[in-house]
Amino acid sequence: MAEVTNVSEYEAIAREKLPKMVYDYYASGAEDQWTLAENTRAFSRILFRPRILIDVSKIDMTANVLGFKISMPIMIAPTAMQKMAHPHGECATARAASAAGTIMILSSWSTSSVEEVASTGPGIRFFQLSVYKDRHVVERLVRRVERAGFKAIALTVDAQRLGRRESDIKNRFTLPPHLTLKNFEGLELGKMDKVENSGLASYVAGQIDRTLSWKDVKWLQSITVLPILMKGVLTAEDTRIAIQNKIAGIIVSNHGARQLDYVPSTIMVLEEVVKAAQGRVPIFLDGGVRRGTDVFKALALGASGIFIGRSVVFSLAADGEVGVRKVLQRLRDEFELTMALSGCRSLSEITRDHIITRWDAPR
Ligand code: FNR
Repeated sequence: MAEVTNVSEYEAIAREKLPKMVYDYYASGAEDQWTLAENTRAFSRILFRPRILIDVSKIDMTANVLGFKISMPIMIAPTAMQKMAHPHGECATARAASAAGTIMILSSWSTSSVEEVASTGPGIRFFQLSVYKDRHVVERLVRRVERAGFKAIALTVDAQRLGRRESDIKNRFTLPPHLTLKNFEGLELGKMDKVENSGLASYVAGQIDRTLSWKDVKWLQSITVLPILMKGVLTAEDTRIAIQNKIAGIIVSNHGARQLDYVPSTIMVLEEVVKAAQGRVPIFLDGGVRRGTDVFKALALGASGIFIGRSVVFSLAADGEVGVRKVLQRLRDEFELTMALSGCRSLSEITRDHIITRWDAPR
């Protein structure tokens, strides 16, 4: 097999290896998938203004996220059901993340439990939370997450209802019978039976609390001391409300284009959110990051770090833990090279002046 020279190549390998139903579940976006294409395309409308004759023999990529020092500002977004990609699933991802010295966010909808992931060894891990109608389920989950040593909660706020992913509907997507949503084992939520016609969408719709509002954020803050990141903010308005509600940080995300189609790419709205935050909380981004140059562009627009989703599940499918390690290493190498060629020796040297945005450029 020819050497994989960039992160995107893992998608083709995963497509070959995975059953169609699984590949489609990982790859797809909502409805027309306009936002899905836009998430990656928008990065190509940002160009560099590199500075020259700066000694770049030493590059420091270390980042600080909620007080935790990590090796680079490249982290792992929560993606559900990773054992469909590889038998070691989330545990392989967790090992790869800690080997790379970076943070992994574990999905609530994982096929390995929080305890299993914690038992893979040391590592800085956050937990992605969705709020279910039964608050006892949520509270018990939060307690387990705290006990397992997770350091923060990423509260998903863009998925009270699931976006329509048409390939999942066509494929009648269902979790393969040998797998379960481990965090809910023993609870009603743990078993996902085949649901007629609309597959996963109907199932989740029945469990997630559609009444979720700002008062529930207060409730969550009252039951845990863990810092809470808000995942799924796309506007200045919500950024300001989130900060009033004492949120620890924001992840600018459109859920990998799987929820509301025709929202802008995350990289296009990042600066709006950064400006509204006025440096009061860190702003992160996920969606469409496939290159080290993308990471640099997000940081130049004010992000404190980025998260990757699909690149992790595709590399996991291709080569398990080794695949995920390679993806993290590739992005790291590309990001380092981008810093060097732009004349930046540390993250704090990456500024808005290092890029030009050409949002109105022809597509
Ligand atoms: C996701 N995402 C997601 N988000 C979340 O809050 N909880 C979850 O369980 C999941 N599950 C999930 C599964 C799959 C297969 C994908 C592709 C995405 C969204 C994810 O955290 C992140 O926002 C995007 O994946 C980032 O975009 P890229 O890197 O995939 O382009």
